[in-house]
Amino acid sequence: MLRTHTCGELRLRDVGKEVTLAGWVTRVRNHGGLIFIDLRDRFGITQILADGHNEEVYALASKLKSEYVIQIRGTVCKRPEGLVNPKLSTGEIEAKINELRILSSAELLPFEIESNKELDEALRLRYRYLDLRRRKTQENLVLRHRIAQSIRHYLTQHDFIEVETPFLTKSTPEGARDFLVPSRLNPGHFYALPQSPQLFKQMLMVAGFDRYFQIVRCFRDEDLRSDRQPEFTQVDIEMSFVEAQDVMSLVEDMLVGIFREILDISLPTPFPVLSYEEAMDKYGADKPDLRIPLVIDDLTDLFQKEPLVIKGEKDPVKSLFIPQGETLSRKRLDLLAQEAKNKNLFFSWIRGSSCEYSSPLKGKIREETVKDLLLRYPFQDGSILLLAAGKRTSLLDFMADLRIQIGRETGVTDDFRFCWIVDFPLFEWNEDEKRWDSVHHPFTAPRDEDIPFLEEMPGKVRAKAYDVVLNGYEVGGGSIRIYDTRLQEQIFRLLNLSEKAIQEKFGFFVEALKYGCPPHGGIALGFDRLVMLMCREESIREVIAFPKTQKGVCLLTGAPSRVEKEQLDVLAIDVKKEENGA
Ligand code: AMO
Repeated sequence: MLRTHTCGELRLRDVGKEVTLAGWVTRVRNHGGLIFIDLRDRFGITQILADGHNEEVYALASKLKSEYVIQIRGTVCKRPEGLVNPKLSTGEIEAKINELRILSSAELLPFEIESNKELDEALRLRYRYLDLRRRKTQENLVLRHRIAQSIRHYLTQHDFIEVETPFLTKSTPEGARDFLVPSRLNPGHFYALPQSPQLFKQMLMVAGFDRYFQIVRCFRDEDLRSDRQPEFTQVDIEMSFVEAQDVMSLVEDMLVGIFREILDISLPTPFPVLSYEEAMDKYGADKPDLRIPLVIDDLTDLFQKEPLVIKGEKDPVKSLFIPQGETLSRKRLDLLAQEAKNKNLFFSWIRGSSCEYSSPLKGKIREETVKDLLLRYPFQDGSILLLAAGKRTSLLDFMADLRIQIGRETGVTDDFRFCWIVDFPLFEWNEDEKRWDSVHHPFTAPRDEDIPFLEEMPGKVRAKAYDVVLNGYEVGGGSIRIYDTRLQEQIFRLLNLSEKAIQEKFGFFVEALKYGCPPHGGIALGFDRLVMLMCREESIREVIAFPKTQKGVCLLTGAPSRVEKEQLDVLAIDVKKEENGA
């Protein structure tokens, strides 16, 4: 055995024992005649020391540098009074070295492992294996592992079984581009890496598995952000003989359990449920951060008679009341007005109290309207009401941004506020292609009472879909599925898919629905996002062992990279053009 204990294990009870430890040299302090070394591994740090009594050990110890990997045999001693380190779990003891072996030396590192300095992310990703030696990054991955274990345990306890589904498969429409993999054995033919296991999990329901889950990698070729990676992990779930409420209750119970087990936090239940309409009206977004108490209000009726504010006949007027708005300087308000103007929106504000107010609108709108406003909100010193009007979509985006910006400035609590968003529209109009697109995916069932609108007013049809949202992030989405072949085919046709296209893309799946399909539904949680939030990080890259940059590049391996012409020839592929020399 190369060690008898880890570096986080020894305590006072071990004093007097002869132990063998191994790990990385974190810090060496030479006190002339005494060399102290912090020896580190994943489990902790143990102080070891070499004194002058053993010349050979002392000579070798004085050669040690940061990040050498060493092995020592030593005797555990109680640290002298006053030298105890309460910050270390091993801080009451140290080990006197009797024998020292250098297992592996280390070159000068590109950055210090133990430093608290903010490091350049590109450098961290280039040397990710060193970055992963850092305490925080390691803790994140350990937490990730524990959360995954907790989920597996919960689902297994609830009769789910984990089934692996293929990576080399056919495209599943989740709204992003596919990553394609050429098939050598079938030249000119391509597999798609799955954007999700959607169709397979539904076919597992047809097969009678009843309750399926998988902690599974998914691949989407889309523009990246801090909460998106081209390959990411889902906790994918599907259940038979259920309605939306059943899936939502199960997931809620699971999340409550994980937060209790991993973070010792009791989440308030039940999670609030908001309709899509309500979320858009109150927060301007379908993934509201409920830690921010500000709520968007609708003032369209009040401003009906104010042509200064209302330009287009159907344009809504929205407001945001900020009780403590002192920090919004005149300069900031001017900048916001400019930003609104660039977005073709009207913007103004009113500051003050019922007896006195200031506003660029003074004298330009009716006193009655102002009075109504001052009575409507609890104005006090410093309060400000922000107003904006214009086309609904850009207006809501603007108000949602404003709410988040100002909400974050006034300080958000560091708790976890979950909610469910339900009743999404089933379709959205794609203006560029002049056709309807699925909001979620085409296998989502419409609400029963909205089925009559399918042909005439598809925009009015709501879906049996639900998203779970945490602190402004969509951490999961799912739905009850269509299990009737005719309805599924009708939806495909509404999405403008020809019979031929339906057959080519989903023929196998529509066929499966014909052989006895149970009513079913499910959900997928964005595992990386959930872990990111539980680790209180702001980017999912912090909780993924080997993530890619915003440009989809792995700085460690250099992927994606060119391949030899011969390799392409075997695959019958020609590269037509390379952009940016990439
Ligand atoms: P959806 O597309 O909503 O649903 O994905 C589920 C969850 O996965 C996470 N997610 C991502 N995380 C990181 N990087 C990405 N690029 C990325 N894309 C999505 C989000 C999202 O809520 N098959 C359906 C689920 C179902 O209907 O059961 C699906 O994939 O947190």
